[in-house]
Amino acid sequence: MSLTPKFPVFLHGGDYNPDQWLDRPDILQRDVELMEKAHVNCVSLGIFSWALLEPEEGVYQLDWLGEIIDRLWQHGIRTILATPSGARPAWMAQKYPEVLRVDAHFRRRHFGERHNHCPSSPVFREKTAAIDRALAERFASHPAVILWHLSNELSGDCFCPLCQQRFREWLQRRYGTLDALNAAWWTGFWSMRYTDWQQIEPPSPEGQMSNLGMRLDWRRFSTDQCRDFIRWERDTVQAVNPELPVTVNLMHRFWDYDYFALAEDIDVVSWDSYPEWHTKPEIETAAEYGMWHDMMRSLKDQPFLLMESTPSLVNWKDVNKLKKPGMHLLSSLQAVAHGSDSVQYFQWRKGRGGAEMFHGAVVDHSGRDDTRTFRQVTEVGLALEKLQAVHGAPVEAQCCILYDWENRWALDMVQAARRGDMRYTETVTAHWRELWKRGISVDFRDLRACTDLSRYRLVIAPLLFMLRGGIEEKLRAFVEGGGTLLMTCFSGVVNEDDLAFLGDAPHGLTDVLGLRAEELDTLGDDESNEMRFADGRCGRLIRLCEVVVPQGCEAVAVYGSDYYAGQPCLTRHAYGQGQAWYLAAEPDAASLGVVYDELLRGLSLPRALNVPLPEGVVAVRRGSAVFLQNYTGTRQRIGLPHPFRDLLTGQEAAEFLLPAFGVAVLEER
Ligand code: GAL
Ligand code: ZN
Repeated sequence: MSLTPKFPVFLHGGDYNPDQWLDRPDILQRDVELMEKAHVNCVSLGIFSWALLEPEEGVYQLDWLGEIIDRLWQHGIRTILATPSGARPAWMAQKYPEVLRVDAHFRRRHFGERHNHCPSSPVFREKTAAIDRALAERFASHPAVILWHLSNELSGDCFCPLCQQRFREWLQRRYGTLDALNAAWWTGFWSMRYTDWQQIEPPSPEGQMSNLGMRLDWRRFSTDQCRDFIRWERDTVQAVNPELPVTVNLMHRFWDYDYFALAEDIDVVSWDSYPEWHTKPEIETAAEYGMWHDMMRSLKDQPFLLMESTPSLVNWKDVNKLKKPGMHLLSSLQAVAHGSDSVQYFQWRKGRGGAEMFHGAVVDHSGRDDTRTFRQVTEVGLALEKLQAVHGAPVEAQCCILYDWENRWALDMVQAARRGDMRYTETVTAHWRELWKRGISVDFRDLRACTDLSRYRLVIAPLLFMLRGGIEEKLRAFVEGGGTLLMTCFSGVVNEDDLAFLGDAPHGLTDVLGLRAEELDTLGDDESNEMRFADGRCGRLIRLCEVVVPQGCEAVAVYGSDYYAGQPCLTRHAYGQGQAWYLAAEPDAASLGVVYDELLRGLSLPRALNVPLPEGVVAVRRGSAVFLQNYTGTRQRIGLPHPFRDLLTGQEAAEFLLPAFGVAVLEER
């Protein structure tokens, strides 16, 4: 299967901004030569080109873009064509201020920056559709154009009167009556009751922030607003050519929209990944980004595209570090190992001015092709050509972690335990890391999308505070049918309105787990408890310690101190054909490893390689290939049970020497 059927190979290239160089035909000519040299086969064009494509209202100038697309095509280089809605022209903001966003303080933004539009504005919709249609009519059937890139890194909310009105209409559709809304939002609290739909405003630091149900609904509404805007653009361009797929480039730092929901409106998931290499042990950075690669693959349960990454460094962090030799290939192939069918960069060439003039690029201000960055990029291009057998291949996982945006929002807002510091995503990453370290592939599912749990043998549900979509019944059926489930503390507490369940927690699952949770204790940063196993092993517990009352479960480990010393902190319970585990506290990283040793014993989940790997080295399987990755700054010798062939070098051996930050892509002989 290919995400880009018109060009079913690994894509290598990135954001190309010829619009900044139209007065330098020599440079534009040179770009094509350099791209061929760097084994670039695909660029993204037009992301911020609106002012040039429509210099005056209704006057379209697409010829320059056509010439660029044609010239690239003559050299076999494909185009991902962007719609320009990520940044609007000044004339539009001047003539129609309603296209600009209103912020959470109810102030209208001025012209400038990007990603600054109101998704409800009829004028903005109309102007976007008109330029999108013009682009589609001219280019959607061009043989070189393989994918639509809608807008750019969509994010944020608009609080303008139009958006407020749409919020009220959205609430009317969701609740039908004000009574139902008042009940869901628990407005008996602090005299919050609404008696007229017009009284409802979005959550704002200038107004209401303590209505948690409303804040949750605002996030859902914003997601729907964004989805509606995506569909608006998608339907406009696909009306011209329904065959050309669309993507939007996602960003894991943004949490505004529910990405599982949003992915339903696009054909291809792509994302922009900017790891902070060399600012902490590289294996930790690799864990964070590897987890997000798996998430992006899981959103549509198919491969994804790495749409942006830097060829060398970024310019927007406080400390902008270079990638050390080897890291560019390693980081790029990490994405491929987890399901990416591309390695694309921001940016092809550094501009002479503007905020991103010093952001890493394949071509520096020197214009040279004998730089370290240029060589490293070329190396990636060559590597991808050697890996074609992996293109489109699935990652097969027998383990699934539940990750849910609505649960994330609810935990971020909760006024309890470690307020504002529940670390949902970090906790999920910590669990993911234990599986990844062991070479076990993992999928993610959110609470609605997990209709297929029976395809997994192990399901992990960290901090599942909110239950929705009947997940408790799905988890019960999963365990009953022979699955192994691990849940952790503070789970099954609220329903999808963020209202506490009445009765024992975790709601609907106490008999499956063989326990009930009674109280949640919170530890300060300098406090800890102990996790004691029967055989004398010990672990360290931090941050969250829940006191549970066993109702048939077996204690695998108990607390070591405080008034709840001796009471279980890790339990196991046989239910139906399966097993349900409960981790009542938060272990530190090393201790979580011990929990996973226990959990995985006897499960015999398939691993990428059946050999122990040195600390900092991981193996990830995609299709028939195993990506062996060395995240340490030293050379590592890896002995294998039988000979493998490295697809990158052709070397066949039963032992591989990986250089510092080295990578090999192994296939069994
Ligand atoms: C991305 C953005 C690009 C560029 C890049 C710099 O988030 O989509 O346009 O600004 O960051 O790292
Ligand atoms: Zn608005």
